[in-house]
Amino acid sequence: MGDSAVGKSNLLSRFSKGEFHLDSKPTIGVEFAYRNIKVGDKLAKAQIWDTAGQERFRAITSSYYRGALGAMLVYDITRRGTFKNLKKWLHELREYGNRDMVIVLIGNKSDLVDSREVEAEEGQSLAQLEDLCFLETSAKENLNVEDAFLQMITKIF
Ligand code: GTP
Ligand code: MG
Repeated sequence: MGDSAVGKSNLLSRFSKGEFHLDSKPTIGVEFAYRNIKVGDKLAKAQIWDTAGQERFRAITSSYYRGALGAMLVYDITRRGTFKNLKKWLHELREYGNRDMVIVLIGNKSDLVDSREVEAEEGQSLAQLEDLCFLETSAKENLNVEDAFLQMITKIF
């Protein structure tokens, strides 16, 4: 979850299919993907929902939080507004989601160093305050994407 165009769909397509699209369209409602992952000596089948960030889909997407074991909360390091909105997303997660849900905070687009508006330290301290895991990723350059999903899945298991 997170604002529109922060890169949620591309993080998922990178993780589930090894694909990145420069010209991807906004997600309509909700989509999903699977990936089998080895966790220790067990095989986990992760089912990952990709929700739309656009406000007009909020009623649909919030109904998917309830059954989730974990959530990735994504912002775009080149747009401060998407970082400011994290408070609102966290509020929704805590209102509709499970109490013991694993939440990973993601600052995406770390490849765009020249247009950075949010420092990594700011993400880190918000994560500390809210008791979340934190990583900066690039779906484009495939940086930390595998790690982000694996952290989440390992914690759930
Ligand atoms: P909604 O479905 O509307 O909520 O948006 P989204 O969060 O799923 O964003 P999406 O994955 O569709 O990506 C939006 C735009 O950002 C696309 O043009 C992507 O190519 C671009 N993008 C996504 N991840 C990265 C990244 O890591 N680096 C760069 N440079 N661009 C990215
Ligand atoms: Mg999307």
